[in-house]
Amino acid sequence: MKDIDIRRPRLEEKEELHQFFKIVVTDTHAREGLAYMTDAIDNEIEDKKKFLESDYSSNGENRYFLIALHKSMIIGTIEYALTGELINRCTNGALKGLFEIGTVFVHPDYQRQGVGNLLLNAMYHTLQDRGIKEFCLDSGYSNAQKIWKKKFGEPDYLIKDFWGEGYDHMIWRVKIADMLEK
Ligand SMILES: CC(C)(COP(=O)(O)OP(=O)(O)OC[C@H]1O[C@@H](n2cnc3c(N)ncnc32)[C@H](O)[C@@H]1OP(=O)(O)O)[C@@H](O)C(=O)NCCC(=O)NCCS
Repeated sequence: MKDIDIRRPRLEEKEELHQFFKIVVTDTHAREGLAYMTDAIDNEIEDKKKFLESDYSSNGENRYFLIALHKSMIIGTIEYALTGELINRCTNGALKGLFEIGTVFVHPDYQRQGVGNLLLNAMYHTLQDRGIKEFCLDSGYSNAQKIWKKKFGEPDYLIKDFWGEGYDHMIWRVKIADMLEK
């Protein structure tokens, strides 16, 4: 996909980003057959808003977002921060102190066109420039799990039925050097 800019979010883009989170979270749940889980949808949108706020208020220190734009419209996000409560709980603290990449979101109309890979590559370089050699990433969405398995291999942690019967949670621990070689 051509003409994609990747850069830090601006304060005046807050509302557009809130809308973007809503679009992606709602669509993702619908595609997973989970549109009825309205509380989970609302909670995830609120979590993402808090993540963004944490970036703005700490100037990228506590959480660091990058966004993708096409013709000045926001079509993707990615962020990193220290591993959060969910990963720490699922791994009994084994990954504490490592960084986690999250909010890898691409607008439904732009998925499968390489935007996710562009965001990931930009984040690999950001992390590498900061001397960070590895990261973790987790997912409870079955569609995303397929994509991450293809990219990162089998998950390092698989918590069976974490979200209910048939809904597993998966966590990967990835070396950046392995990704940049590809
Ligand atoms: C997951 C997501 C970020 C991927 O972004 P994308 O722009 O669609 O992905 P890309 O086109 O860059 O493709 C990335 C890789 O996934 C593969 N891929 C993409 N969609 C796929 C699918 N439905 N099934 C299998 N592989 C797929 C591509 O072939 C590519 O593989 P490669 O790196 O080996 O070439 C995007 O689909 C998304 O936002 N999904 C909804 C939100 C979500 O679940 N986010 C992840 C939360 S953990």
